[in-house]
Amino acid sequence: MCGIVGYIGPRQAGDLLVSGLRRLEYRGYDSAGVAIANGELEVRKKEGKVDELAALLENRPVEGTVGMGHTRWATHGAPTDTNAHPHTATHGRFAIIHNGIIENYVSIKRRLLEKGYTFDSETDTEVLAHFIEDVQEETGLSFPESVRQALTQVEGAYGIVALSMDNPDELVVARNGSPLLLGVGEGEHFVGSDASPFIEFTRHVVYLNDGEMAVVRRDGYDVSEINGAPVSKEVHELEWDLEEIEKGGFEHFMLKEIMEQPEALENAMRGRVRADEGTIKLGGLEYVTKELESADRIVICACGTSWHAGLVGEYLIERFARIPVEVEYASEFRYRDPVLTEGDVVLVISQSGETADTLAAVRQAKQAGVLALGVVNAVGSTIARETDAGVYLHAGPEIGVASTKAFTAQVTVLAQIALLLAQKRGTISDESLRQHLDALAAIPEQIRTVLETDEQIQAIAREMRLAQNALYLGRGLNFPVALEGALKLKEISYIHAEGYPAAEMKHGPIALIDRFMPVVFVATRDATYEKVVSNIEEVVARQGSVIAITDAGNRDLDELAEHVIEVPKTADAFEPLLTVVPLQLLSYHVAVMRGCNVDQPRNLAKSVTVE
Ligand code: AGP
Ligand code: GLU
Repeated sequence: MCGIVGYIGPRQAGDLLVSGLRRLEYRGYDSAGVAIANGELEVRKKEGKVDELAALLENRPVEGTVGMGHTRWATHGAPTDTNAHPHTATHGRFAIIHNGIIENYVSIKRRLLEKGYTFDSETDTEVLAHFIEDVQEETGLSFPESVRQALTQVEGAYGIVALSMDNPDELVVARNGSPLLLGVGEGEHFVGSDASPFIEFTRHVVYLNDGEMAVVRRDGYDVSEINGAPVSKEVHELEWDLEEIEKGGFEHFMLKEIMEQPEALENAMRGRVRADEGTIKLGGLEYVTKELESADRIVICACGTSWHAGLVGEYLIERFARIPVEVEYASEFRYRDPVLTEGDVVLVISQSGETADTLAAVRQAKQAGVLALGVVNAVGSTIARETDAGVYLHAGPEIGVASTKAFTAQVTVLAQIALLLAQKRGTISDESLRQHLDALAAIPEQIRTVLETDEQIQAIAREMRLAQNALYLGRGLNFPVALEGALKLKEISYIHAEGYPAAEMKHGPIALIDRFMPVVFVATRDATYEKVVSNIEEVVARQGSVIAITDAGNRDLDELAEHVIEVPKTADAFEPLLTVVPLQLLSYHVAVMRGCNVDQPRNLAKSVTVE
C-alpha cells in the first residue's frame, strides 16, 4: 500500500534513500524507516514524517552503500516507532520492509510463538521476518532461498525488500500483489514501489510481476518465479515524468483511485470473504460479535460520502441480519441529545478516521455506555483508536479529496458485516450466503468491466459539462447511490446537483425539470424498477434529458433515455458497488472539462477535523 525504495551501488545510501522516500510521500503514509549495511545492519525508523526520519539520520548518520527505505501505511498495528519498518530478525542480522497484507500471519505467528520466538511489534511484517529466520534455521538454506521457501507458504499481498548480513552485497526482492520494479544503472541498481525514487538516476526499469522474486547486486540481478524457475526480463525505457509516475500515469489522483477500486476491494475482502468455505472472517469484530449480533438497534453515524455508505449499510444489515438500523449525520447526532439505551450499538464510518463530528459521535456513544464500532480506512487514526472495535477498509491511502475507492470499500465492508451478522443470527440460508459471497467476490472483476465504459461516459460528460443543475434519482439501494453521484458532481465540478428518492420527485423537484436539467437515474432491474421507469417517463414528458444507469442487457430504456450506461448484473444488494462507478467517472470528466481542480476542489479538505 505504501512506499519502498532500495539501493545497491557505489553511492552513500542514506541520503539517496531519504530523498527516495520523499518522492514516495505523495502516496500517504504514517511512518518511515531505513536499514543500511555497513559491517552491521543499522536501522533508523519512526512514526511520523520522512523529515523526522531525516533528522534521526542527521543525529546518528549511517555510512553504507546498500540499503532500503520504507514509508508505512499501517494495516496491522497502529503507527508507532516499533511498528514502523524495517523489521529485523536473527538478532538483527537481517532486515525486511513490506508493502501489503500477510493474510495468514496469525497462524504463522502462533506457530512461531510456540517455538519460542518473541515479537516487538504488532505487525504482520515482523511475523514474516521471523518466519524467514525460522526457515533458515530449520533448512540451513541461503538467505535468498530461505526467503523463497517462506514466501511459498505465505498468503496475501506483498512487495518486499530484504537485506541480510549473510551477504550484504545483495538485496532480495519479491512481489505478489504490491507493485515493485527495479531501476537498472551502471554498477548500481535500485528498487521502488514505482520509479519516482530513482528516476533521476536511471530510466531503465525492469517490472516484476506477481509471484516473482529477484536477487539484486551492484552488477546485475537474477529474477525467478517464487517456485524457483528463472525468468528473463526485458529492460524498459521509462517515458513518464515524475508527476505522471506519482499518479500512476493518470492525470489526477482521483482518476487513479477510481481505476484502482478493483484492487482496493480485493484488499477489503482479502482474508475475510471465504466464498469457497461459505464463511466470512472479520478479525476486528471477533470480541464484539456476540454483543453486535444481539443488538436491538444499530445507529450508523458518518459524514458526507461515508454517510451515503451508511445508508447502503442500513439496507444491507436490515435486509440480511434483520437488525433495525438508523443512519444519522454525525453532526446532527452529536447535538440532538439522542436516546441511546442498552442494546444499542453505534457504528461510525470514516475514511480518514479524523472527522471531528464523527469522532464526537464515538465519544457520545461511549459516554452513553454503548458499544462503539468503526469502519475506518486509516489504521491507528483517532476514531480507530477510540472505538471499541472495528473493521479496516485496507483500501490504501485515498489522496483525492473526492472520496471514491473509500466509498466502495466501505460498502464492501458493510456488506461483509451484514452477511456475517445474518449468518450468526440464522437469518440467511447457507445457500444464499454462499451465493452472496460468490457475488461479492466477483465484484472487483465486474468493476473492471464498468471501467471500460469510460469513453462512453466522457461523451456524456461533454454534453453535461455546461449544465447549471442536475438531479440524481434512485429508489431503494439506488437512492444512496444517487446521493453519492450528486455529491461527487457538486464537490468537484461546482454544478449544483441534488440526489433524491425517485418517488419523491413528484413532491417538489419535478418543478425543476426542463430540457436544461440533466436527470440521472440509477435504474437497475430490482424490485422497484417498474416504478422507476414511470418516474423516468414523467421526466421525459417534461423535456428532461435522462441519463440512465442500468444493468447489462436492459433495452427498456433505450427509447426513453438520452444515454444508457450498463453495468454487469450482480446480486441486487451489491449493485451500488457497480452503479456508483459510472457516476464517479461522470463527475470526474465533467470537472476536468470545466477546468476544475479535481484533486483539491475549492473550499474542501480531505479530512474535516473541525466542527
Ligand atoms: C466525499 O467525497 C468528501 N470528501 C466528504 O464528504 C467526506 O466523505 C466526509 O468529509 C467524511 O470524511 P471521512 O470519511 O474521512 O470521515
Ligand atoms: N501490513 C504492513 C504493516 O501494517 C505493511 C503496511 C504497508 O503496506 O505499508 O506494517
